[in-house]
Amino acid sequence: MKVEDGLGVEHLRFSEDGDAVIILDQSLLPNETNYIRLREREELFEAIHELRVRGAPAIGIFAGYASYVLAKQSKAADFPEFYRDFLSNKAYLGASRPTAVNLSAMLDRMDRVVRANARQPIPEILDAMRNEAILIQQEDIAMCRAISEFGLALVSDGFGILTHCNAGPLATSRYGTGLGTLFLARERGITLHAYCDETRPLLQGARLTTYELQRAGIDCTLICDSMASIVMREGKINACFVGCDRVAANGDTANKIGTSMVAILAKHYGIPFYVFCPSSTIDLSCGTGADIQIELRAPEEIKEKFFERPVALPEVKCYNPSFDITDHELITAIVTERGIIRPPFFEALREFA
Ligand code: MRU
Repeated sequence: MKVEDGLGVEHLRFSEDGDAVIILDQSLLPNETNYIRLREREELFEAIHELRVRGAPAIGIFAGYASYVLAKQSKAADFPEFYRDFLSNKAYLGASRPTAVNLSAMLDRMDRVVRANARQPIPEILDAMRNEAILIQQEDIAMCRAISEFGLALVSDGFGILTHCNAGPLATSRYGTGLGTLFLARERGITLHAYCDETRPLLQGARLTTYELQRAGIDCTLICDSMASIVMREGKINACFVGCDRVAANGDTANKIGTSMVAILAKHYGIPFYVFCPSSTIDLSCGTGADIQIELRAPEEIKEKFFERPVALPEVKCYNPSFDITDHELITAIVTERGIIRPPFFEALREFA
């Protein structure tokens, strides 16, 4: 099956023989368009950890594909042995990145499929796993489309939208969550102007969001993260649109580092701040944002990556949290495929989860 994203780029799929996952290596964009074939446990793990595949929904889809590809390599003679192999791969892949709930949620979903087919011969279990992985991706496309339709109710022609990180087709399968409304608006003849935070330190905003928007012919302007305040002050921004990796029961949300800064600024300037995500991102087991594990990453990403020469002395200490928590009081609404959730979030989220 061929799944294309909003750009006409097929960035995540099975190989023809189903032995491997093929991804567009997002860590090299926009300068190199390089597809890689991944089959081994270590390289599948590395692809998630090094953000070759990234964005909460895309990681979830990839996890489904990867668990099938690994299950196919199992030499197990019976179900208990097959399931032991599956659980070992599940734990291994699940440890690659901690913050996005999608990774563990989709591995759990594959787990349920394996257990539901426990009495079937192993080739049939594999068929069921393959179908489920493809279904996860198809559902993601429908989900993004529905989120984007709801998002259209929040914009008017000529709106300036501030974006942070990348929540577009590359982070999902098609349309995206936070960016989906911009793609759909273009299809409907509504003009929106995006101001895209570059999103230090890994520059997903500069490298991926402007790449996607520019190619789709959507007006976009790249800014450094530190410029968000001035563009808001100058009246260029009517709304902020961001994605999300996990929503806690009280409405606190985890998203790419710097998101909470945008939300605080938006509150200051009286600009609505919208979070876009599938309802599966709501994790009621986390009471508040304090319960969400924040991924910590290597100092080199701050000091060396993307620079010709290091920008700080090697001995300088670095703190590199990859996500932050946006307090629910700063969020105007959470937009899901099932509708727009407005405060008070604690009650409303229970109905949507
Ligand atoms: O570290 P990344 O690039 O995986 O972080 C991605 C984000 O923070 C996205 O905004 C989030 O995953 C939502 S993607 C639709």
